[in-house]
Amino acid sequence: MLPKRQAYNLCVVGVGAVGIEILRVLKQRRFPVSKLTVLARSARSTEVDGSSYPVQAVSSEAFEGQEIVLFAGTEGEKGAAVTYAQEAIRRGAVCIDNGADFRMDPKVPLVVPEVNPEDLNKHQGLIANPNCSTIQMVVALAPLHRKFKIRRVIVSTYQAASGAGNKAVGSLLAETAAALEKRPLPPPEAMPQPIGFNVFPHIGPFQELGYTSEEWKMVKETQKILHNEKMAITATAVRVPVKDAHSESIYLETERPATVEDLKALWRKSPGILLVEEPKVPMPIEAAHRDEVFIGRVRPDPFMKNAFTCWVVSDNLRKGAALNAVQIAELLIKN
Ligand SMILES: NC(=O)c1ccc[n+]([C@@H]2O[C@H](COP(=O)([O-])OP(=O)(O)OC[C@H]3O[C@@H](n4cnc5c(N)ncnc54)[C@H](OP(=O)(O)O)[C@@H]3O)[C@@H](O)[C@H]2O)c1
Repeated sequence: MLPKRQAYNLCVVGVGAVGIEILRVLKQRRFPVSKLTVLARSARSTEVDGSSYPVQAVSSEAFEGQEIVLFAGTEGEKGAAVTYAQEAIRRGAVCIDNGADFRMDPKVPLVVPEVNPEDLNKHQGLIANPNCSTIQMVVALAPLHRKFKIRRVIVSTYQAASGAGNKAVGSLLAETAAALEKRPLPPPEAMPQPIGFNVFPHIGPFQELGYTSEEWKMVKETQKILHNEKMAITATAVRVPVKDAHSESIYLETERPATVEDLKALWRKSPGILLVEEPKVPMPIEAAHRDEVFIGRVRPDPFMKNAFTCWVVSDNLRKGAALNAVQIAELLIKN
């Protein structure tokens, strides 16, 4: 945890889709910042909601004096957190990483504040933010799991282009315009397939048993966050031509007897959740730029006891990334 102070030196690494949203959320939630440093691969300035932020080129020295570092850079070998998180920790910062590189490291807590805030107490300088599609699913599952113990989950996602970063949003817009104007499609950027007027069941590389990396993230991260390595989860992750907010069709079975009304009653009183009652339905167009996880279409399985289907929608850049990271930082300074 961090020592109690009026305000903190805070650094945001990356000003892509997630980094920009972090700057927006910090300002909207009035996070107590004494000095804000924004880093990316190259220096420039960036505009967010009418405010201009100077951006410095990333370097080890830039982490000197930082107390909280929010990483929103590219993942992998040369990803920002892989290169700089240990450097920032050595210089005294607590780091929160949006990338996937450290999420399954047993020494790194993987935290959703509404679900497992107690895991923060074990941090050793680095805390991981879960994958966007995992966050909205565990926010929905956690209250049910606490009361009725979930034993099985089958989830299919309908994921927005912004989940793959700013270049992917560019592809969605450019391909849609080209198709409407009957021009040849531009080459896809940051996407393995065209996304304008298309749907593809393939997010991340194919891995074990033919599931993709995104699908395994949903399985393994959910098991880690809910502290239940035996929970049976099967995921199909699909990219759809939506700009912001992921949707998920979730089928779940509970061990203890439950009814649709039991599920709804729990969701109505759970933080971070907005239950949408019919004839209204949760949709990305309404969930985009909002903080809540929207849950609707709650139905019983007509053939199985204690089994249900629901539809869960949330903004992948807000609760799925920036908001969750800032909420973790808020917990760190509160404790
Ligand atoms: N998009 C989502 O919904 C979402 C949700 C959850 C988690 N995430 C994760 O969040 C991270 C950022 O995603 P994004 O969608 O914002 O990507 P993005 O739009 O492609 O932006 C990436 C940003 O990272 C910067 N960057 C890349 N490598 C860097 C390095 N070595 N040092 C410093 N800055 C570096 C880039 O700098 P330049 O601008 O100078 O090139 C750019 O500003 C990824 O790990 C992603 O998996 C994304």
